[in-house]
Amino acid sequence: MNEDLVGKVAVVTGASSGIGRELARGLAERGATVLAVSRGSGSGQRVVDELRLSTGNERVRFLPADLSSLAEVRSVAALITAEEPRIDLLVNNAGAYFARRTTTVDGYEATFALNHLAPFLLTHLLAEGLARAPQARVVGTASAASRAGRLRLDDPMLERRYDGWAAYSQSKLANVAFTVELARRLEGTPTSAYAFHPGFVDSGFGAGSTVMNRLLRLAARLFARTPEQGADTGIYLATSAEVAGASGGYFADRKRIQPKAAALDRGLGERFWRLSEELVGLTPQERAALQRAQRAA
Ligand SMILES: NC(=O)c1ccc[n+]([C@@H]2O[C@H](COP(=O)([O-])OP(=O)(O)OC[C@H]3O[C@@H](n4cnc5c(N)ncnc54)[C@H](OP(=O)(O)O)[C@@H]3O)[C@@H](O)[C@H]2O)c1
Repeated sequence: MNEDLVGKVAVVTGASSGIGRELARGLAERGATVLAVSRGSGSGQRVVDELRLSTGNERVRFLPADLSSLAEVRSVAALITAEEPRIDLLVNNAGAYFARRTTTVDGYEATFALNHLAPFLLTHLLAEGLARAPQARVVGTASAASRAGRLRLDDPMLERRYDGWAAYSQSKLANVAFTVELARRLEGTPTSAYAFHPGFVDSGFGAGSTVMNRLLRLAARLFARTPEQGADTGIYLATSAEVAGASGGYFADRKRIQPKAAALDRGLGERFWRLSEELVGLTPQERAALQRAQRAA
């Protein structure tokens, strides 16, 4: 075991398959305590058992949560905080594509809820834990799909006309815009934020929903990179000293790349942040957690 993360605590969402499983493996191999979050207790626990065995690291644990539910984001955050008061790495990776408009238990459009609101809320709820680490990092799995996205402040959940691609590309642009704004709010603190595009990866992504997705899966098997290759830039961002001064950056293949201009638009980023705060129902104390991290710097 490469031991450079021994003593560090990492939370990885969507660690039960694909890119997330390899992100969790990479961090566990380096000795981190890994809290793996996803739904499906059977599959999640099986993956964690396999990760423990293959990495020789017993400190990999499974925490079940359906992150499309705000209540479950809150309960898993409470569980994490109770188990690990200090968090060194938060990898917001869980995500999905919904070909048809689906709503969550909160009545929100599922892509927006799972891919954007969940990491937004989880990061806030873990802000104090992150602030207790000497140099915490928040890493988000975004996508090149962000280039096709548009942040629709007037209709973020595509109530007027749903299109799976519009919803997905917006959510991935939201991941990049969130990273940029988070880094700005955390400027001067020891916590950094990064987003990355993993490439086109042959994972469980989009499995079985429509003919289009099945064709994509076939293409993936023929042309895509492996989940391990897809996770490489994420592990690099979580661990490398080379990116220490690059908070707010968007990366692909270990290189900083220019995101879509909308992700860098400060006015839009702030308005989108406020809308997200309202939609997740942040309490004044929860909002203050991030501000306290800023003030403590
Ligand atoms: N594959 C690609 O080519 C590609 C390209 C660019 C970006 N990405 C991004 O990479 C990330 C990971 O995708 P992947 O390709 O590795 O897909 P994947 O194999 O389908 O993995 C998705 C992970 O998210 C979890 N998840 C899904 N819905 C969830 C929910 N409601 N609550 C909690 N966890 C949930 C899944 O676990 P459970 O189902 O067990 O809950 C699984 O662990 C996504 O954010 C995706 O947008 C993928």
